[in-house]
Amino acid sequence: MAEIKFEKAAKLKAKPDVSKIGFGTHFTDYMFEMDYDKEHGWHDARIIPYHDITVSPANTTLHYGQAIFEGMKAFRQGDKVVMFRPMDHLRRLNNSCRILDIPPVDIDTVHEGLRKLITTEKAWVPAKKGQSLYIRPFIFATDPYLGVSVSSSYTLLIILSPVAAYYAHGFAPVKIMVEDTYVRAVRGGLGEAKTPANYAASLHAGLVAHQKGYDQTLWLDGVERKYIEEVGSMNILFKIKGEIVTPELDGSILNGITRRTVLAIAKEWGIPTSERRISIDEIREAYTDGDLEEVFGSGTAAVISPVGVLGYKGEDMVINDGKIGSFAQKMFEHITGLHSGELKDTQGFVEFVTEM
Ligand code: COI
Repeated sequence: MAEIKFEKAAKLKAKPDVSKIGFGTHFTDYMFEMDYDKEHGWHDARIIPYHDITVSPANTTLHYGQAIFEGMKAFRQGDKVVMFRPMDHLRRLNNSCRILDIPPVDIDTVHEGLRKLITTEKAWVPAKKGQSLYIRPFIFATDPYLGVSVSSSYTLLIILSPVAAYYAHGFAPVKIMVEDTYVRAVRGGLGEAKTPANYAASLHAGLVAHQKGYDQTLWLDGVERKYIEEVGSMNILFKIKGEIVTPELDGSILNGITRRTVLAIAKEWGIPTSERRISIDEIREAYTDGDLEEVFGSGTAAVISPVGVLGYKGEDMVINDGKIGSFAQKMFEHITGLHSGELKDTQGFVEFVTEM
C-alpha cells in the first residue's frame, strides 16, 4: 500500500455550531489528495491543509465534465468515531470511475487515507444524534486540453463537512413532483454513475418543481416516461400492500448504499421486498385503490425522507394523510440508531475508525 504523507496546517479553524449550519457549508482543516498520471499511476497520497485548488482554464473537467464523486458519513458513538459502509462507497466510486473512463483507484490506499484523515479530524465529528461528518471523495480530470477526449491525468480529493439534516425542515414529509417533461438519464447513459452531469441534468427541472411548490423531482425513465427511476438526491421506495417495492437497478439509477441498507434491514425484519420495474400508472392505481401505504426516499445525505405528496400531471396524491409512515419512521430510527451506536450492528455496516 502506498505511503500517505502528512502536512501540518499552520492554523486551525474555529469549529461552527453544527445545528446552525445546515448541510455542506463548512469544511474541516485538512483534506486528502492523490494524483494520477500515465507514468506513475495513482501516486503521492497525502493529507494536507484544506485549500482552494488551481486549475488551468482549459481543464477538461470544466469543459466536458469527466468527474465523479461519492457521499458518505462518519459518526460519533460516545468516545468512538465510526464510518458507515465505507468500503461499499469506495467500491461504488470505482464503478463510477469505470463508467467515466477514469483509472480506478486502489481502494485500500484510499480507505487507509480516509481513515487517517478522519482520525486527524476526529474533533470535527459532531457528537449529537442526527449530525455527522459528511465525507465527499471526488475525482476530476486535470488535462489542460480543449479536444474532447479521455484525460490522461486526474486528481482525487476527499473533503469533510460537519452536517446536520440534509433538508432544512429535518425529518418531515416532502412534496415530490413526478417529472414528465424533462429526463435525468437514459439506460446506456451515465445514470448509474455518481457524476456531476446527472446532477446538472436535474437542476432546471428541480427549479420548475420548486416554483410549483414541490421540494424535489421524481424522475421517470427517459424513453417511455412511464417507469419510476429515482429522485436525484435519493432513491425512492414504496410500501404497497405491506411490501417494500423499489425500482430495479437497470443502469440508469444510482445503486444507493442507503437503498441497499433499507432492503437488508427490511429483510431482517421479515418484511417482503421487491426490486422491479414500477410504472407511475401502477402507483396511481395503488393510490386510488388505497394500497399505497407509504412513499419515502433513501440516501446518504437525507438518510430516510418520507414523501407526503406526490404530484403528477397537476394532481396531488396525498400519501398516508401527508404524515410520516410507520415503516419510514421505524427505518429512520433504526438507521440513525446504527449511526449513533444505540442499536447493535448485526450486518457489519459500521466500521470503527478511532477513539476520541
Ligand atoms: C448523498 O446522499 O450523499 C448524495 O451524494 C446526494 C446529494 C447530496 C448530491
